[in-house]
Amino acid sequence: MAGDVIKVLLVDDIPETRENLRKLLAFETDIEVVGAASTGREGLEIAAATKPDVILMDINMPDMDGITATEEIKKSVPSAAVVMMSVQSESDYLRRAMLAGARDFLTKPISGDDLYSTIRRVYDLNKELRDQFAAVASAGAAEGGKKARKIGKAAGHIIAVYSPQGGSGVTTIATNMATAMMSEGTRVLLVDTDLQFGDVGVFLNLSAKHSLVELAQSVGDLDEDLIENVMVTHGSGLKVLLGPPSPEEAEKVNPKDLAEIVSRLASHYDYLIVDLPHRLDDATLNILDIAERIVVVANPTLPCIKNVRIILDLFVALQYPQEKIIFVMNRVNPDLKGGRASIPIEAIENNLKRKTDARIPTDDRVFLSAVNQGVSVIAKETNRSPARDLVELAYKVRQSFTSPEEEDEEDLMQQEQPKQSRLSGLFRR
Ligand SMILES: Nc1ncnc2c1ncn2[C@@H]1O[C@H](COP(=O)(O)OP(=O)(O)O)[C@@H](O)[C@H]1O
Ligand SMILES: [Mg+2]
Repeated sequence: MAGDVIKVLLVDDIPETRENLRKLLAFETDIEVVGAASTGREGLEIAAATKPDVILMDINMPDMDGITATEEIKKSVPSAAVVMMSVQSESDYLRRAMLAGARDFLTKPISGDDLYSTIRRVYDLNKELRDQFAAVASAGAAEGGKKARKIGKAAGHIIAVYSPQGGSGVTTIATNMATAMMSEGTRVLLVDTDLQFGDVGVFLNLSAKHSLVELAQSVGDLDEDLIENVMVTHGSGLKVLLGPPSPEEAEKVNPKDLAEIVSRLASHYDYLIVDLPHRLDDATLNILDIAERIVVVANPTLPCIKNVRIILDLFVALQYPQEKIIFVMNRVNPDLKGGRASIPIEAIENNLKRKTDARIPTDDRVFLSAVNQGVSVIAKETNRSPARDLVELAYKVRQSFTSPEEEDEEDLMQQEQPKQSRLSGLFRR
């Protein structure tokens, strides 16, 4: 069987450039040029008609520039990967282009090798995402009814904390949010679902006498006693379910069971905060599915924002409602005036078309000493930033469950059904 053929669309206002690209691509048997456009607007039309896998997009064009065209194409053909083409001097544009959703860029003059490897790379990157959509969607459709009845809608609120980028502050925010929510006299459980590199134990200085491993052994009948037994209680009173104590132990947990465990646990608590690993696999996606809220943690750096962009696109493709996502910018440094790799938050908000729900400043001293003492930041200095910001975030998340239009949750679920076919399947009893 022949391999996949990558469908490529060229968008450039200069005829020679289009011709050169065509010639370079002519001999690659796995690449097919499905169209060429001379303006951004024309590119949009051809993209909608031909559904290319990869779009080579010039930045500077009359009529509609490459950045605007990229933004529009992300809406109409989300599966297409845009590669921005520019000359060296346009590096500021390039940054905006990446934020607008471009997957990669090429600097003119473009060599054949760069061109081929970039096209194949972004195609593979997007293909992985596409396959993931497809696999999860079909699993959902096949198992949908059965799974939905089995998992059902949890009584407690599941709040997943996630970032596509390691070290963004997921564990930090999950730990502090859980502590802040608990202080209101509600039952809160923090669950570490990072099977291999779970950090919650280290952050809170808890040793794993018991962990997820015991629960995973009897997913079918998790009774109150067993649950109570495997929880560890932090000095603050917070209940914590730790991840496996070692990678060997991790093998005893079937990742497929994680969502089910989380959902079953949620019925015993008011809020269940899930610290998710960065790797996006089916186990993580299943938890993101059943979560009522996803706290997406980003840092103001280009690689992180680029990955967050992919994740937000994925959430749109999965038809998660907007209200489900809570967008947190961590490691914001108000004093940083360029120079380092930090991007202004407003620029990120404009480009992602999404306001931050919380901004947590960088504070090495406070975060480091909290970890060293095994306590959450908010336990230390509640009235000052960054602790205050973390408390406000927790408050905001809690409020999001009690806003007037969401008071009747059953109603909300009903309304959401047409928008979110697979999700609503999971919520239906
Ligand atoms: N706003 C911040 N300022 C300073 N250090 C931070 C901040 N947020 C997180 N950290 C530190 O960064 C490291 C990585 O954070 P962590 O929560 O483990 O990230 P993740 O779980 O996303 O991998 C930790 O040592 C943490 O204490
Ligand atoms: Mg972590």
